[in-house]
Amino acid sequence: MLRPFRWDRAARRLDLLDQRRLPREEGWIECPDPEAVRDAIASMVVRGAPAIGVAAAYGVVTAFARPRPGEDPEACFGRADRTLRPARPTAVNLAAALDRMRLRFDSLGDLGLEDCSRELEDEADRIADEDLEANRRLGSLGADLLPPGDEPVRVLTHCNAGTLATSGYGTALGIVRAVAESGRSVEVFAPETRPWLQGARLTAWELVSDDLPVTLLTEGAVGSLLAARRLDAVVVGADRIAANGDAANKIGTYNSAVLAKRHRVPFLVAAPFSTVDLATPTGADIPIEERDAAEITEFAGVPVAPDGVRVWNPAFDITPAALIAAIVTERGVARPPFGPALARLGAA
Ligand code: MRU
Repeated sequence: MLRPFRWDRAARRLDLLDQRRLPREEGWIECPDPEAVRDAIASMVVRGAPAIGVAAAYGVVTAFARPRPGEDPEACFGRADRTLRPARPTAVNLAAALDRMRLRFDSLGDLGLEDCSRELEDEADRIADEDLEANRRLGSLGADLLPPGDEPVRVLTHCNAGTLATSGYGTALGIVRAVAESGRSVEVFAPETRPWLQGARLTAWELVSDDLPVTLLTEGAVGSLLAARRLDAVVVGADRIAANGDAANKIGTYNSAVLAKRHRVPFLVAAPFSTVDLATPTGADIPIEERDAAEITEFAGVPVAPDGVRVWNPAFDITPAALIAAIVTERGVARPPFGPALARLGAA
């Protein structure tokens, strides 16, 4: 299965599939140090909440593999953390992966740089492998929520919450894969996802590559789709889920949630539990990344808006818990009221 990252054990270097060039070409970028990993995360070489968490974990290891002159283990960790943590603010998986690497580092006592590097490498491997396992498990739990029968299952998604955004299999698209693996036919509707086109470039590519039926549409067509066609569910991923169930995901997700409510289609959020942030009370407390104006004023490098126009380019929005039917995690399915349900899963 294609993964968006490759850890080179011999070179102790992270190689990232350059998602900016998909689907035209499959190119890889070599990241030998935390600074290169940070740049890759910020420029969306690698994107998707779980995948940037894994990239950050390996980014820590690269600091230990190539320490700067005079750096002891604590200085290496400090530099990696300071460099990587601010790379993208919304997806909690990045901070969660760094916190987990810190816990492991703190448990290592007085080990030297080389031994720390090996232990932290194993921890980063575990974070990656556990994400893949979580996706398979939540995929199967989510598939059970879709209506039984012989009719093809039809879902609308948003952005890319698939293999390319995770350690493999995917969250929202993991549910789609689990339905297909159970022998049922499944059809995905993928909005193009302005402005970065994760739906058109990544979700469509990933599903076409796996021979899973996918129909691409503009985001403006989502309301018409829900009005005109029978859909079984809207299934999306998340970058951070607050303690009350409010979910941050790619800008435009909220629009689909409102439309799904209007058309009585269940709206499911699929995410590993590492995306749930019980320390953040509500969606209003989630930092929303704002990205460069050029993502909107240009199209494929060609200016399409007048010089000097003001731009607002939030990369994510918040879907209020009230619009969500279920949050599917590997620990189980949370249903409203989400506060107690997520707290129970957190304690499990
Ligand atoms: O800006 P991106 O491409 O990193 O945004 C990604 C998303 O919004 C995904 O839906 C989310 O990270 C879940 S990925 C399993």
